[in-house]
Amino acid sequence: MYFVANWKMYGVKNSLNTLDKVIKFSNSKEIKKGRIIYCPPYTLLSSFYKKFQNCLIDIGAQNCHESTEYGAHTGFVNSKMIKNIGANYVIIGHSENRNKGETDKLINQKIKSAINAKLKVILCIGESLKEKRSGKTKSVLSKQIKYGLDKIKIKTNLFIAYEPVWSIGTGKIPKPSELNQAIKFIKGKFKKKSPQILYGGSVNTSNIKNLKNIKGLNGFLIGGASQNAKNFIDIVKKTYN
Ligand code: 13P
Repeated sequence: MYFVANWKMYGVKNSLNTLDKVIKFSNSKEIKKGRIIYCPPYTLLSSFYKKFQNCLIDIGAQNCHESTEYGAHTGFVNSKMIKNIGANYVIIGHSENRNKGETDKLINQKIKSAINAKLKVILCIGESLKEKRSGKTKSVLSKQIKYGLDKIKIKTNLFIAYEPVWSIGTGKIPKPSELNQAIKFIKGKFKKKSPQILYGGSVNTSNIKNLKNIKGLNGFLIGGASQNAKNFIDIVKKTYN
């Protein structure tokens, strides 16, 4: 199981001290077969890389520019730069960025650039509350997968994070039946090998006991709860107990 911490626009130098507990945990037997990946803001990637040098915790970025080349793009970072700093993952298509205008086409270009840089991609997909209420969940997921992954053949290093928009930061999670259906639907979109499927949206130390029983999930993409080391560790522990 993968436990991906998305710190979003949180975290300063001092936040690194909170990671000692997680490093200790990651070196213990308690972690079982769990894999931890931290996605801090760009400003902390390098410090996280150094911090995790002697453990198995991996790092990733929260987005990337779509260009495979360096260039005159003020304020942006491309996949090559992310790989160069020692990161192995990148989150692409998060709803918080889709809401700011990222289209499926742009997301597709970003994924191609990330694959080109040998980064593992965590593609976020999910429906809004309005889309859910009007019964459009499947068509939204379908469109995001189809156009997001257009002309992408190599799917070995691909994770799909199902993050219903209405569940992010709200404390609400889908019913088990809804989640089962969505996962089955996503897997069904891939003829040969399905990508690894993660769930994201209000994962916390209480609801993990229900979420861990959902079949077909390969892990979780965790926002708020991942910023507290104890809670994050608890989520991993409870997944296995
Ligand atoms: P929360 O866990 O804070 O709801 O955020 C989920 C998320 O957006 C992870 O990418």
